[in-house]
Amino acid sequence: MEKIIVKGGNKLSGEVNISSAKNSVLPIIVATILCPDKVIIQNSPMLEDVNVICNLLNELNCDINISKINNSLTINTENIIPADANSELIKKMRASFLIMGPMLARFGYCKLSLPGGCNIGSRPIDLHLKGFKALGADVNIGHGIVEASAKKLIGNRIYLDFPSVGATENILMASVLAEGTTIIENAAEEPEVWDLANFLISMGADIDGAGTGKIVINGVKTLKGITYKPIFDRIEAGTFMIAAAITNSIIKINGVNEEHLRPLIEKLKECGIIFTEKDDCIIVDGRGDKKPIDIKTMPYPGFPTDMQPQMMSLLSIINGSSIITETVFENRFMHVAELARMGSKIKIDGRTAFIEGVQNLTGCEVKATDLRAGAAMILAGLIAEGKTEINDIYHIDRGYINVEEKFKNLGADIIRISK
Ligand code: EPZ
Repeated sequence: MEKIIVKGGNKLSGEVNISSAKNSVLPIIVATILCPDKVIIQNSPMLEDVNVICNLLNELNCDINISKINNSLTINTENIIPADANSELIKKMRASFLIMGPMLARFGYCKLSLPGGCNIGSRPIDLHLKGFKALGADVNIGHGIVEASAKKLIGNRIYLDFPSVGATENILMASVLAEGTTIIENAAEEPEVWDLANFLISMGADIDGAGTGKIVINGVKTLKGITYKPIFDRIEAGTFMIAAAITNSIIKINGVNEEHLRPLIEKLKECGIIFTEKDDCIIVDGRGDKKPIDIKTMPYPGFPTDMQPQMMSLLSIINGSSIITETVFENRFMHVAELARMGSKIKIDGRTAFIEGVQNLTGCEVKATDLRAGAAMILAGLIAEGKTEINDIYHIDRGYINVEEKFKNLGADIIRISK
């Protein structure tokens, strides 16, 4: 098993290049199932989750070539076979459930194991299934298996009780080849949903309103192969913004624009962080005094839940009282116990965390309880006194490529060791 060791106290400086968005690349790779032509996805971060979804497509008899030179993926799903519901790969990663929409669209049938929950919540799929049924699919659940079939998918109006990212993406992929018009209301507005729709439109899909709460899809007969470059990873970028803030440093973040980072930038400005925004980079100055703030995570364009743990690390060392309310997932405070081991003063009441800033944190052995909580542990380690040893870092590798290299290049004292 590997662990990351951070020695606190270093200031950061220099610049970091942000990778393509994990939460765009995953649905885009899955969307290649919709088209039997060659598709090239450029600048794909070779994250653990990307490896899993590529291995899954390989298991489904698709051709996938990974070019290490420019991290491009060349995918051809022409000879794809039906999914084996009991595939370990499908069980391994929740995002694999996104193959149901495109499989239904292409073959009229799909059988998958029910995705499990995870540390941050039960992660139900009722809204995905509501959409498939509205499009005319028969859906049966039993023995931990979901089976969906449809002679033909017919466009329909679908209201999502919650603007679920995954449900929006799965229904969007199911509807692009359906007969007639589909309207998804209360759709997720996340940039990664817009990116998936933009990818599908480039392939010839007829989609209007992606990135808003109402998406209108007119089914088309076929899609064609393309070359596509996904958007940057706003959560990785946000993680490095908080790294500058928590270490009182100034760093340059390349390959980003403020548009998708606006919710986070506004809250960090409230905290006292200064931003200089340019066309394809942002300079983050975290050297000034900082104030406590209150945060409520919301679906986009609200404050992103995927930035909540990282923000908690920052607020835990800002003098004064801060409040974080987590409205998206029911159990996304697992990192609080780990931060408490480092000396933070945080009380939880339901979905609200009350944070009393402390002078400093002290390094110790902690664990990554999920992907973003792991990132929060690295951030806390950057300023903790002494050494912080982070275990279960496989969580972090799911969403951050070469994470310790990127922090080391900014001046952090961080190494990865095998224990
Ligand atoms: C996506 O997960 C992201 N993952 C998550 O990122 C992110 O936290 C989440 O969206 C919210 O932004 C990927 O894109 C691969 P949801 P997803 O469906 O699609 C409820 C990370 O760290 N819900 O928007 O699973 C659900 O219980 C990961 O990169 C239903 O009730 O999120 C949750 O409370 C973590 N029924 C809320 O919606 C459903 O059918 C948000 O879930 C579906 C969801």
